[in-house]
Amino acid sequence: MHVHSYEKIWLALGLGLILLLIGSVTYGAVGPGVSMVAADQPTVDPTALDEDDRFAEPRVEQVGENEYEAYVVAYQFGFEPDPIVIPANSTVTFMVTSRDVTHGFEVVGTNANTMVIPGEVSTLTVETGGPTEYGVICNEYCGAAHHGMEATVEVVPQDEFESSTGGSTDSGGSTDGDGSGGDQ
Ligand code: CUA
Repeated sequence: MHVHSYEKIWLALGLGLILLLIGSVTYGAVGPGVSMVAADQPTVDPTALDEDDRFAEPRVEQVGENEYEAYVVAYQFGFEPDPIVIPANSTVTFMVTSRDVTHGFEVVGTNANTMVIPGEVSTLTVETGGPTEYGVICNEYCGAAHHGMEATVEVVPQDEFESSTGGSTDSGGSTDGDGSGGDQ
């Protein structure tokens, strides 16, 4: 059987388009770091957040050299803490949960964006740059005042961050190695 060369070109183009399509769908799903909540991720009881180490007192905590964790609770209709104060030029992992219904947590103008589901802890890690301020909005319809559900993320210089948290939470035994003196 003789296949005309024009036909061969069109066959090749057709195959190429299919590969391009599969490739772009794959990139869209994997490339920008989109992920689902893992099935083995521990859940929380949304009605008992008061008893959870992280969410009883929503806050930002240092967990390593230049590494921080921000524990955030979303509720109808706001976020706690607000503002969320995080240090500049550091790695911050947001752990966000809801105490009532499904919300969204979107740091406006960045790709930090997650759904917040009661019972699940949405985790996302960001690298902060210099001091600045971002708005946070809820992008899942959650009730009458959904449109007004917002907060602020303040990225502040390291020393300012330390002085803002220094000694504010001294509940006994919450920190290890406290009082060892210089931690440089
Ligand atoms: Cu919370 Cu919309």
